[in-house]
Amino acid sequence: ESKQTINTDLVTLTRFILEEQNRYAPHATGELTLLLNSLQYAFKFIAHTIRRAELVNLIGLAGITNATGDDQKKLDVIGDDIFINAMKSSGNVKVLVSEEQEDLIIFEGSEGNYAVCCDPIDGSSNLDAGVSVGTIFGVYKLQPGSKGSIKDVLRSGTEMVAAGYTMYGASAHLMLTTGHGVNGFTLDTHLGEFILTKPHLKVPEKKAIYSVNEGNSYYWPKEVQDFIASLKLPQEDNNGKPYSARYVGSMVADVHRTLLYGGLFAYPADSKSKTGKLRVLYECFPMALLMEQAGGEAVNDKGQRILDLIPKKIHERSGIWLGSKKEVEKLLQYIKN
Ligand code: AHG
Ligand code: MN
Ligand code: MN
Ligand code: MN
Repeated sequence: ESKQTINTDLVTLTRFILEEQNRYAPHATGELTLLLNSLQYAFKFIAHTIRRAELVNLIGLAGITNATGDDQKKLDVIGDDIFINAMKSSGNVKVLVSEEQEDLIIFEGSEGNYAVCCDPIDGSSNLDAGVSVGTIFGVYKLQPGSKGSIKDVLRSGTEMVAAGYTMYGASAHLMLTTGHGVNGFTLDTHLGEFILTKPHLKVPEKKAIYSVNEGNSYYWPKEVQDFIASLKLPQEDNNGKPYSARYVGSMVADVHRTLLYGGLFAYPADSKSKTGKLRVLYECFPMALLMEQAGGEAVNDKGQRILDLIPKKIHERSGIWLGSKKEVEKLLQYIKN
């Protein structure tokens, strides 16, 4: 009979971060480690709140809109409050950008050396239907000598020192990079610990799955329509079968599947959203950094590397295509002008 062995040597997120710090930054102050622990506390609290939302009538609209024109859900606002308080009390964060806050937040009394960009609840339009949502985050170290200003976040994505997301699905899944690859953790609610479950995750080099909202196709530029149409034809390199279409409508869920299975996720700019829908600082950059660290690619509608963009505004948007290297390369044949 199969001997059910219990893993008595669990790698928790806290242990993992300390081991990474000792391996890659032995002389570090430990501030980023503390910041990541405050982030994990925020994810646990948001996960707990989302699981009980329906029971405590937290579903539904808050009746207000945010800086990017989204209708705010009650959980958008609660997730944002949880996140802001966790970052403020960490003592390591000086500057905070949130989808749900029109302006930059600067924690005046803080001595923190980090700036955090976050999407507290991504996919919130799906919340009432019980579809997976998540929290996306990206971390910059303040620039040398900076006391904390907007200049610390209007920077290229290549300068992010950490990024990732926690998807609140059947379990809470945290995917994290600190620049040394991607590692996946699953929340054990009994222990209250994120446990390492997907070490050194690599995205498959190719996969015949495309993930885009076809409801926008009337508004796409011609080269995008032609490219997506080409995926619906029998593919030589896919045993004569066309691509499968998979679209959840929560970026975190669509990117999580793309990281694990491979494929291509896209939210292209179109004639109704001329600069795309997804926001650079707290959706495009973190997901692009994760994808590149996992061996994939992430480009904008001109085929330029997402991480090289430099946003001029904190809620700036961009078209984005990300996923398996081979799938992005197929796209570039159509859009690289
Ligand atoms: P958010 O809920 O944080 O505002 O993000 C919603 C985004 C993203 O999660 C998803 O990829 C995209 O909206 C879906 O947009 P469509 O419904 O237009 O496809
Ligand atoms: Mn929103
Ligand atoms: Mn979002
Ligand atoms: Mn959001």
